[in-house]
Amino acid sequence: MDVKGIVLAGGKGTRFRPATMATNKHLLAVYDKPMIFYPLSLLMLADLRDILLITSPRDVARFQDLLGDGSRFGVNLSYATQEEPRGLPEAYLIGERFLDGHPSCLVLGDNIFYGQGLPTIITRGFTRKSGAGIFVCEVDNPQDYGVARFDSEGRVTELLEKPRSPASDLVVTGLYYFDATAPARARTLTPSARGELEILDLATQYLREGQLSVEQLGRGIAWLDMGSPDALIMASNLIHVIDHRQRLKIACLEEIAWRKGWIDDTTLRQAADVFADTAYGRYILRLLA
Ligand code: G1P
Repeated sequence: MDVKGIVLAGGKGTRFRPATMATNKHLLAVYDKPMIFYPLSLLMLADLRDILLITSPRDVARFQDLLGDGSRFGVNLSYATQEEPRGLPEAYLIGERFLDGHPSCLVLGDNIFYGQGLPTIITRGFTRKSGAGIFVCEVDNPQDYGVARFDSEGRVTELLEKPRSPASDLVVTGLYYFDATAPARARTLTPSARGELEILDLATQYLREGQLSVEQLGRGIAWLDMGSPDALIMASNLIHVIDHRQRLKIACLEEIAWRKGWIDDTTLRQAADVFADTAYGRYILRLLA
C-alpha cells in the first residue's frame, strides 16, 4: 500500500523566539532556500508524492504562497493546521483523514539529512505491512534529543525523551515510519510532564510489541536538527560547502522532480523563470543545458 508523507512544521520555535515572533522558523533561509525545502526533499527522494504539511493557523497561508499545491515540483501537497504545538503524535490525529488507512513517513520540518544512499535506507522498511521504524544517529549532545538505550546485544530496550543522563550517544532523528495503526495509537497517548504527546511514547508501543525497527545512520550520512541558531548556521555552512565545491544543490525540489520524471522541461524552465537572476534559477537553467 502506498506510503504517504507528512511534514510537521508547527509554530514551535522556542530556541528561535526572537525570529519566530516574526516568522515560522521553517521559513527561515538555510543558506539559499527555506528550511522546509530540506525535509520536503527527503520525502520526495523516498518517492513519496502525497504529502501533508501541518503548520500553525498563523503560518499556513505563507507555506501555501511558497509551495502551492506542489505541482511545480511534481507532488500533491495538502495542508492542515495544528492549533497549538501539543506534540508530534498530534500529526496523526490531524492527518488521519489524509492518511486514509495508509502507512506514512513523518519528517520534522527542521530536520536535514544528507548523504549518498539515503533513499534506500529510508524506503527499506516501506514494504513491511505492520510496524514502525526510527533512525538513530550519534551526536555529542544526546541530552537535547530522544535517546535510545541498548542491551548488551545491541537491541534497543528503551527510548527516553531528553534525559538528563543519556544512556547512549545514539539519538532518535526526526524521521519516522509508522504503519496504518498510528492514528488509533496516537489517540491512546497522554501528555508527558512537559505537557505534550510524545513521539517516543508512540514508538515505544511498537518497541514493546517487537514491531520497531531501528536503523542507525552511519558516517556517510549527515543529520542536523536546525532547531537552534547554532544548528542553523552549521546546516547553512554544510549546504554552502557542497553547493560551491561540488556545484550541487541540496534540496532543489524542482531538480529532484525533473530527474524523477515528475515534471517536464517546460515546467522546469518555468521554475527557472520564477527564480530568474538568482543562483537557484541559474542552477536550474544549467540542468536544462
Ligand atoms: C523532537 C523529538 C525528539 C527528537 C528530535 C529530533 O524533539 O521529540 O525525540 O530527537 O525532535 O529533531 P524537539 O525538536 O521537538 O524538541
